Amino acid sequence: MNNFNNLIDMDDYTVSQWNEIISLAEKIKANPMEYSEKCRGKIMATLFYEPSTRTQMSFQAAMIRLGGNIIGFDNPNNSSVAKGESLKDTVKIVSSYSDILVMRHSQEGSAKAAALCADCHIINAGDGGHLHPTQTLTDLLTLKTELRRLDNLTVGLCGDLKYGRTTHSLVKALSSFPNNRFVLISTPSLALPSYIKDVIRAHGSSFTEVDTIDETIKDLDMLYMTRIQRERFASSEEYERQKDVYCLTKAKMQYARPNMIVMHPLPRVNEIEVAVDDDPRAAYFRQANNGMYVRMALILFTLTEKPKIRPLLMGEIHNNVCCTNSKCVTQTEKYLPHSFINRGDILICEYCDERILL
Ligand code: CP
Repeated sequence: MNNFNNLIDMDDYTVSQWNEIISLAEKIKANPMEYSEKCRGKIMATLFYEPSTRTQMSFQAAMIRLGGNIIGFDNPNNSSVAKGESLKDTVKIVSSYSDILVMRHSQEGSAKAAALCADCHIINAGDGGHLHPTQTLTDLLTLKTELRRLDNLTVGLCGDLKYGRTTHSLVKALSSFPNNRFVLISTPSLALPSYIKDVIRAHGSSFTEVDTIDETIKDLDMLYMTRIQRERFASSEEYERQKDVYCLTKAKMQYARPNMIVMHPLPRVNEIEVAVDDDPRAAYFRQANNGMYVRMALILFTLTEKPKIRPLLMGEIHNNVCCTNSKCVTQTEKYLPHSFINRGDILICEYCDERILL
Protein backbone atom coordinates (compact mmCIF):
# COMPACT_ATOMS: atom_id res chain seq x y z
CA MET A 1 0.00 0.00 0.00
CA ASN A 2 1.16 3.51 -0.78
CA ASN A 3 0.20 6.59 1.18
CA PHE A 4 2.05 9.29 -0.75
CA ASN A 5 0.83 11.79 -3.35
CA ASN A 6 2.87 10.38 -6.21
CA LEU A 7 2.50 11.82 -9.72
CA ILE A 8 3.68 9.03 -11.99
CA ASP A 9 0.97 9.34 -14.67
CA MET A 10 -1.81 11.89 -15.19
CA ASP A 11 -4.41 9.42 -13.92
CA ASP A 12 -2.86 9.51 -10.45
CA TYR A 13 -5.07 12.58 -10.01
CA THR A 14 -8.64 13.27 -11.09
CA VAL A 15 -9.56 15.91 -13.66
CA SER A 16 -10.91 18.00 -10.82
CA GLN A 17 -7.51 17.78 -9.05
CA TRP A 18 -5.70 18.83 -12.29
CA ASN A 19 -8.03 21.84 -12.41
CA GLU A 20 -7.26 22.57 -8.75
CA ILE A 21 -3.50 22.56 -9.46
CA ILE A 22 -3.94 24.79 -12.54
CA SER A 23 -6.13 27.25 -10.61
CA LEU A 24 -3.55 27.38 -7.82
CA ALA A 25 -0.80 28.02 -10.41
CA GLU A 26 -2.84 30.96 -11.78
CA LYS A 27 -3.16 32.40 -8.26
CA ILE A 28 0.56 31.97 -7.58
CA LYS A 29 1.46 33.60 -10.92
CA ALA A 30 -0.73 36.58 -10.07
CA ASN A 31 0.73 37.01 -6.60
CA PRO A 32 3.92 34.95 -6.06
CA MET A 33 5.05 36.73 -2.88
CA GLU A 34 1.99 35.46 -1.04
CA TYR A 35 3.46 31.93 -1.36
CA SER A 36 7.09 32.70 -0.58
CA GLU A 37 7.11 31.04 2.87
CA LYS A 38 4.72 28.15 2.20
CA CYS A 39 7.46 25.48 2.07
CA ARG A 40 9.79 26.86 4.73
CA GLY A 41 11.61 23.86 6.27
CA LYS A 42 10.75 21.45 3.45
CA ILE A 43 13.30 19.70 1.24
CA MET A 44 12.83 18.61 -2.36
CA ALA A 45 15.32 16.23 -4.00
CA THR A 46 15.84 16.36 -7.77
CA LEU A 47 17.46 13.21 -9.17
CA PHE A 48 18.11 13.81 -12.88
CA TYR A 49 19.65 10.73 -14.48
CA GLU A 50 18.99 12.36 -17.91
CA PRO A 51 19.77 15.93 -19.08
CA SER A 52 17.25 18.71 -18.50
CA THR A 53 17.09 22.49 -18.45
CA ARG A 54 13.44 23.44 -17.97
CA THR A 55 12.08 20.64 -15.83
CA GLN A 56 14.97 20.52 -13.42
CA MET A 57 15.49 24.26 -13.03
CA SER A 58 11.80 25.14 -12.94
CA PHE A 59 11.27 22.58 -10.16
CA GLN A 60 14.27 23.95 -8.27
CA ALA A 61 13.21 27.57 -8.78
CA ALA A 62 9.68 26.62 -7.73
CA MET A 63 10.82 25.14 -4.42
CA ILE A 64 13.17 28.06 -3.72
CA ARG A 65 10.38 30.57 -4.50
CA LEU A 66 8.19 28.69 -1.99
CA GLY A 67 10.85 29.12 0.69
CA GLY A 68 12.00 25.48 0.67
CA ASN A 69 15.37 23.88 0.02
CA ILE A 70 16.73 21.56 -2.63
CA ILE A 71 19.22 18.68 -2.82
CA GLY A 72 20.05 16.28 -5.61
CA PHE A 73 22.16 15.55 -8.68
CA ASP A 74 21.94 16.37 -12.36
CA ASN A 75 24.75 14.05 -13.36
CA PRO A 76 24.50 10.54 -11.90
CA ASN A 77 28.22 10.05 -12.62
CA ASN A 78 28.90 12.42 -9.73
CA SER A 79 26.86 10.23 -7.37
CA SER A 80 27.14 6.66 -6.13
CA VAL A 81 25.15 5.58 -9.19
CA ALA A 82 28.59 5.62 -10.85
CA LYS A 83 29.70 2.96 -8.34
CA GLY A 84 26.83 0.69 -9.37
CA GLU A 85 24.15 1.64 -6.83
CA SER A 86 20.68 0.46 -7.82
CA LEU A 87 17.72 2.77 -8.39
CA LYS A 88 16.08 1.21 -5.36
CA ASP A 89 18.94 1.98 -2.97
CA THR A 90 19.44 5.53 -4.26
CA VAL A 91 15.74 6.35 -4.00
CA LYS A 92 15.38 4.65 -0.60
CA ILE A 93 18.16 6.80 0.86
CA VAL A 94 17.40 10.13 -0.85
CA SER A 95 13.68 9.86 -0.08
CA SER A 96 14.56 9.49 3.59
CA TYR A 97 16.32 12.89 3.39
CA SER A 98 13.47 14.67 1.56
CA ASP A 99 9.78 15.55 1.56
CA ILE A 100 9.39 15.26 -2.23
CA LEU A 101 11.59 13.47 -4.75
CA VAL A 102 11.46 14.58 -8.40
CA MET A 103 13.11 12.11 -10.75
CA ARG A 104 13.98 11.97 -14.45
CA HIS A 105 15.38 8.71 -15.79
CA SER A 106 15.97 7.20 -19.23
CA GLN A 107 14.17 3.95 -18.45
CA GLU A 108 10.44 3.60 -19.01
CA GLY A 109 8.59 2.81 -15.80
CA SER A 110 11.43 4.08 -13.59
CA ALA A 111 9.18 6.53 -11.70
CA LYS A 112 6.81 3.76 -10.70
CA ALA A 113 9.79 1.62 -9.70
CA ALA A 114 11.04 4.50 -7.54
CA ALA A 115 7.64 4.94 -5.88
CA LEU A 116 7.68 1.26 -4.84
CA CYS A 117 10.62 1.84 -2.53
CA ALA A 118 10.37 5.55 -1.62
CA ASP A 119 9.68 7.04 1.79
CA CYS A 120 8.33 10.33 0.37
CA HIS A 121 6.21 11.64 -2.53
CA ILE A 122 7.59 10.79 -6.00
CA ILE A 123 7.08 13.05 -9.02
CA ASN A 124 7.84 11.71 -12.49
CA ALA A 125 9.89 14.33 -14.37
CA GLY A 126 10.09 12.10 -17.46
CA ASP A 127 10.70 8.35 -17.71
CA GLY A 128 12.38 7.63 -21.03
CA GLY A 129 9.99 7.82 -23.99
CA HIS A 130 7.02 6.97 -21.80
CA LEU A 131 5.39 9.82 -19.81
CA HIS A 132 6.00 13.41 -18.65
CA PRO A 133 3.00 14.44 -16.52
CA THR A 134 4.41 17.72 -15.14
CA GLN A 135 4.99 18.94 -18.71
CA THR A 136 1.33 18.20 -19.32
CA LEU A 137 0.25 20.29 -16.32
CA THR A 138 2.40 23.06 -17.82
CA ASP A 139 0.68 22.55 -21.19
CA LEU A 140 -2.81 22.61 -19.65
CA LEU A 141 -2.04 25.87 -17.84
CA THR A 142 -0.72 27.33 -21.11
CA LEU A 143 -3.83 26.30 -23.07
CA LYS A 144 -6.08 27.72 -20.36
CA THR A 145 -4.13 30.99 -20.29
CA GLU A 146 -3.83 31.40 -24.07
CA LEU A 147 -7.12 29.95 -25.36
CA ARG A 148 -9.30 30.11 -22.21
CA ARG A 149 -10.44 26.51 -22.51
CA LEU A 150 -9.34 22.87 -22.34
CA ASP A 151 -12.25 21.47 -24.37
CA ASN A 152 -13.56 21.86 -27.92
CA LEU A 153 -10.02 22.03 -29.28
CA THR A 154 -8.50 20.77 -32.50
CA VAL A 155 -4.95 19.93 -31.53
CA GLY A 156 -2.17 19.05 -33.97
CA LEU A 157 0.79 17.10 -32.59
CA CYS A 158 3.80 16.99 -34.86
CA GLY A 159 7.14 15.18 -34.89
CA ASP A 160 8.24 12.31 -32.70
CA LEU A 161 4.96 10.96 -31.41
CA LYS A 162 6.42 7.49 -30.81
CA TYR A 163 9.07 8.37 -28.23
CA GLY A 164 7.65 11.80 -27.33
CA ARG A 165 6.68 11.37 -23.68
CA THR A 166 5.20 14.88 -23.59
CA THR A 167 2.72 13.98 -26.34
CA HIS A 168 1.71 10.73 -24.60
CA SER A 169 0.81 12.48 -21.35
CA LEU A 170 -0.82 15.42 -23.14
CA VAL A 171 -3.04 13.23 -25.33
CA LYS A 172 -4.09 11.22 -22.27
CA ALA A 173 -5.03 14.44 -20.45
CA LEU A 174 -6.80 16.27 -23.28
CA SER A 175 -8.83 13.15 -24.12
CA SER A 176 -10.47 13.57 -20.72
CA PHE A 177 -12.04 16.90 -21.73
CA PRO A 178 -15.12 17.01 -24.01
CA ASN A 179 -14.98 17.36 -27.77
CA ASN A 180 -11.22 17.52 -28.29
CA ARG A 181 -9.93 16.26 -31.65
CA PHE A 182 -6.35 15.26 -32.46
CA VAL A 183 -4.45 15.56 -35.73
CA LEU A 184 -1.39 13.31 -35.45
CA ILE A 185 1.34 14.55 -37.79
CA SER A 186 4.28 12.16 -38.07
CA THR A 187 6.12 9.77 -40.33
CA PRO A 188 4.81 6.18 -40.11
CA SER A 189 7.84 5.09 -38.08
CA LEU A 190 7.30 7.82 -35.44
CA ALA A 191 3.52 7.40 -35.09
CA LEU A 192 1.75 7.64 -31.74
CA PRO A 193 1.80 4.24 -29.94
CA SER A 194 -1.40 2.26 -30.35
CA TYR A 195 -2.05 2.12 -26.60
CA ILE A 196 -2.29 5.94 -26.53
CA LYS A 197 -4.65 5.86 -29.51
CA ASP A 198 -6.74 3.38 -27.50
CA VAL A 199 -6.97 6.01 -24.73
CA ILE A 200 -8.34 8.54 -27.26
CA ARG A 201 -10.93 6.02 -28.48
CA ALA A 202 -11.88 5.00 -24.93
CA HIS A 203 -12.77 8.62 -24.13
CA GLY A 204 -14.83 8.93 -27.32
CA SER A 205 -12.46 11.55 -28.78
CA SER A 206 -11.36 11.39 -32.41
CA PHE A 207 -8.04 11.51 -34.24
CA THR A 208 -6.70 11.57 -37.77
CA GLU A 209 -3.17 10.69 -38.90
CA VAL A 210 -1.42 12.74 -41.60
CA ASP A 211 2.18 13.19 -42.67
CA THR A 212 2.44 16.93 -43.38
CA ILE A 213 1.77 20.12 -41.45
CA ASP A 214 0.65 21.98 -44.60
CA GLU A 215 -2.62 20.20 -45.18
CA THR A 216 -3.99 20.70 -41.65
CA ILE A 217 -2.49 23.83 -40.12
CA LYS A 218 -5.53 25.92 -41.15
CA ASP A 219 -7.85 23.73 -39.00
CA LEU A 220 -5.90 23.84 -35.73
CA ASP A 221 -6.46 25.69 -32.46
CA MET A 222 -3.05 24.57 -31.24
CA LEU A 223 -0.03 23.05 -32.96
CA TYR A 224 2.28 21.12 -30.61
CA MET A 225 5.70 20.73 -32.22
CA THR A 226 8.20 18.21 -30.83
CA ARG A 227 11.86 17.47 -31.33
CA ILE A 228 13.06 14.35 -33.11
CA GLN A 229 15.02 12.92 -30.19
CA ARG A 230 18.43 11.63 -31.21
CA GLU A 231 18.86 9.91 -27.83
CA ARG A 232 15.85 7.59 -28.33
CA PHE A 233 16.94 6.01 -31.64
CA ALA A 234 18.64 2.61 -31.79
CA SER A 235 20.83 3.73 -34.74
CA SER A 236 22.23 7.06 -35.90
CA GLU A 237 21.18 6.16 -39.50
CA GLU A 238 17.51 6.02 -38.48
CA TYR A 239 17.83 9.35 -36.61
CA GLU A 240 19.45 10.94 -39.70
CA ARG A 241 16.52 9.74 -41.85
CA GLN A 242 13.94 11.34 -39.53
CA LYS A 243 15.61 14.39 -38.04
CA ASP A 244 14.62 17.24 -40.37
CA VAL A 245 11.35 15.96 -41.80
CA TYR A 246 9.24 18.65 -40.09
CA CYS A 247 9.97 22.36 -39.79
CA LEU A 248 7.40 25.00 -38.92
CA THR A 249 8.31 28.12 -40.90
CA LYS A 250 7.07 31.69 -41.02
CA ALA A 251 5.69 30.88 -44.49
CA LYS A 252 3.59 28.00 -43.10
CA MET A 253 2.29 30.22 -40.28
CA GLN A 254 0.52 32.38 -42.90
CA TYR A 255 -2.02 29.58 -43.33
CA ALA A 256 -2.75 29.22 -39.60
CA ARG A 257 -5.71 30.88 -37.90
CA PRO A 258 -5.05 34.30 -36.34
CA ASN A 259 -5.75 32.83 -32.90
CA MET A 260 -3.95 29.48 -33.30
CA ILE A 261 -1.07 29.00 -30.88
CA VAL A 262 2.18 27.08 -31.33
CA MET A 263 3.44 25.12 -28.35
CA HIS A 264 6.62 23.06 -27.90
CA PRO A 265 7.91 21.44 -24.70
CA LEU A 266 11.44 22.48 -25.79
CA PRO A 267 14.35 22.08 -26.31
CA ARG A 268 14.02 22.96 -29.99
CA VAL A 269 16.54 21.88 -32.60
CA ASN A 270 15.40 22.57 -36.20
CA GLU A 271 11.67 21.92 -36.05
CA ILE A 272 10.61 25.57 -35.59
CA GLU A 273 12.32 28.26 -37.64
CA VAL A 274 13.72 31.00 -35.35
CA ALA A 275 11.75 33.62 -37.36
CA VAL A 276 8.53 32.12 -35.93
CA ASP A 277 9.58 33.27 -32.42
CA ASP A 278 8.47 36.83 -33.20
CA ASP A 279 4.95 35.74 -34.16
CA PRO A 280 2.60 36.50 -31.22
CA ARG A 281 1.08 33.04 -31.76
CA ALA A 282 4.39 31.42 -30.75
CA ALA A 283 3.55 30.46 -27.16
CA TYR A 284 6.48 28.15 -26.35
CA PHE A 285 8.57 30.56 -24.28
CA ARG A 286 5.48 31.62 -22.30
CA GLN A 287 4.74 27.88 -21.91
CA ALA A 288 8.20 27.23 -20.40
CA ASN A 289 7.66 30.10 -17.95
CA ASN A 290 4.31 28.62 -16.92
CA GLY A 291 6.20 25.45 -15.99
CA MET A 292 7.65 27.13 -12.92
CA TYR A 293 4.27 28.32 -11.62
CA VAL A 294 2.56 25.00 -12.24
CA ARG A 295 5.38 23.21 -10.41
CA MET A 296 5.04 25.61 -7.48
CA ALA A 297 1.37 24.67 -7.38
CA LEU A 298 2.14 20.97 -7.72
CA ILE A 299 4.68 21.05 -4.87
CA LEU A 300 2.14 22.78 -2.59
CA PHE A 301 -0.63 20.40 -3.64
CA THR A 302 1.59 17.35 -3.11
CA LEU A 303 2.57 18.46 0.39
CA THR A 304 -0.93 19.42 1.53
CA GLU A 305 -3.37 17.02 -0.15
CA LYS A 306 -4.47 14.07 2.00
CA PRO A 307 -3.03 10.98 0.26
CA LYS A 308 -5.31 8.26 -1.03
CA ILE A 309 -4.06 4.96 0.35
CA ARG A 310 -3.89 2.43 -2.49
CA PRO A 311 -1.59 -0.18 -4.02
CA LEU A 312 0.95 0.97 -6.61
CA LEU A 313 0.80 -2.34 -8.46
CA MET A 314 -2.65 -3.71 -9.11
CA GLY A 315 -1.95 -6.49 -11.61
CA GLU A 316 -0.71 -10.07 -11.42
CA ILE A 317 2.89 -10.97 -10.63
CA HIS A 318 4.44 -13.20 -13.35
CA ASN A 319 8.11 -13.37 -12.45
CA ASN A 320 8.61 -16.00 -15.19
CA VAL A 321 7.51 -13.44 -17.87
CA CYS A 322 9.90 -10.66 -18.96
CA CYS A 323 8.68 -7.38 -20.44
CA THR A 324 9.59 -7.27 -24.16
CA ASN A 325 10.40 -3.54 -24.07
CA SER A 326 14.21 -3.25 -24.01
CA LYS A 327 13.85 0.19 -22.36
CA CYS A 328 11.64 -1.03 -19.50
CA VAL A 329 13.08 -0.48 -16.02
CA THR A 330 12.58 -4.18 -15.22
CA GLN A 331 15.40 -5.02 -17.68
CA THR A 332 18.06 -3.64 -15.33
CA GLU A 333 16.42 -3.35 -11.91
CA LYS A 334 16.17 -7.11 -11.46
CA TYR A 335 14.60 -7.06 -7.98
CA LEU A 336 11.34 -5.52 -9.26
CA PRO A 337 8.26 -7.75 -9.28
CA HIS A 338 7.14 -8.44 -12.87
CA SER A 339 3.64 -7.06 -12.58
CA PHE A 340 1.15 -7.17 -15.47
CA ILE A 341 -2.49 -6.29 -16.05
CA ASN A 342 -4.08 -9.39 -17.59
CA ARG A 343 -6.37 -8.57 -20.55
CA GLY A 344 -6.99 -12.20 -21.57
CA ASP A 345 -4.84 -12.47 -24.68
CA ILE A 346 -2.30 -9.82 -23.64
CA LEU A 347 -0.33 -8.86 -20.54
CA ILE A 348 0.28 -5.13 -20.03
CA CYS A 349 3.50 -4.25 -18.19
CA GLU A 350 2.54 -2.12 -15.19
CA TYR A 351 5.76 -0.12 -15.41
CA CYS A 352 6.05 0.83 -19.10
CA ASP A 353 2.64 -0.09 -20.66
CA GLU A 354 4.22 -2.56 -23.12
CA ARG A 355 1.68 -5.01 -24.55
CA ILE A 356 2.85 -8.65 -24.51
CA LEU A 357 0.88 -11.11 -26.66
CA LEU A 358 0.31 -14.44 -24.95
N1 CP B 1 10.31 20.16 -21.63
C1 CP B 1 11.33 19.57 -21.00
O1 CP B 1 11.18 18.50 -20.39
O2 CP B 1 12.51 20.22 -21.11
P1 CP B 1 13.87 19.80 -20.41
O3 CP B 1 14.30 18.47 -21.05
O4 CP B 1 14.84 20.89 -20.66
O5 CP B 1 13.58 19.57 -18.95
